[in-house]
Amino acid sequence: MHIDKQTLSVIDELDELRKTRDDAWQIPRIEGELLHQFAFACNAKVIVEVGTSYGFSGLFWAAALKRTGGTLHTIDISEKKFHASQANFRRAGLGDIVVNHLGDAVAVLPTLPGPVDIAFLDGIDKKQSQRYFELVWPALRRGGSVFTDNTQTHPDELADYMKFARSRPDALSTEIPVGNGVEWTVKL
Ligand SMILES: C[S@@+](CC[C@H](N)C(=O)[O-])C[C@H]1O[C@@H](n2cnc3c(N)ncnc32)[C@H](O)[C@@H]1O
Repeated sequence: MHIDKQTLSVIDELDELRKTRDDAWQIPRIEGELLHQFAFACNAKVIVEVGTSYGFSGLFWAAALKRTGGTLHTIDISEKKFHASQANFRRAGLGDIVVNHLGDAVAVLPTLPGPVDIAFLDGIDKKQSQRYFELVWPALRRGGSVFTDNTQTHPDELADYMKFARSRPDALSTEIPVGNGVEWTVKL
């Protein structure tokens, strides 16, 4: 794994802290490792994340972007998590790679620069996923990907969204049953 010691130590720390926190809701480590590798596969330069929390998934994205020369734009509505994740990115040596946005993703997404290579949708309210998708889709480059978390853990909440993504003529969409389960939608 191409993650340096400084970043890995913060990943290890947050992975331990998940056991003591009831508001982290972070992705399983194996999912982070998969997404990290995916960022390399498409040589991602701009990644947009809805739902920063304490920065666990963002550390995997940003570690890849450090090597590709890109930027992570990550959004959270919680001020506490905005500050905590920002500190974690800095401690991980990724402060220059990550732009933290504080606010509702619905308001922030349209303000972000494109073209976007990858969007990761991981807000709390899974019913909002289609809305986030529609806001980021115009900025996504052709061949870019939207990953939507929790297909295995929240199948009922995401059923309509998965139908929506799979019925689009301008997209190819399939589930990756790893970690929480991720719907992977590629823009054609
Ligand atoms: C599932 S957690 C994200 C976990 C993170 N992606 C990780 O794996 O480390 C969801 C986060 O979305 C944030 N959130 C909830 N509603 C939001 C909104 N409307 N806009 C932006 N963030 C939101 C919550 O504060 C919470 O931290």
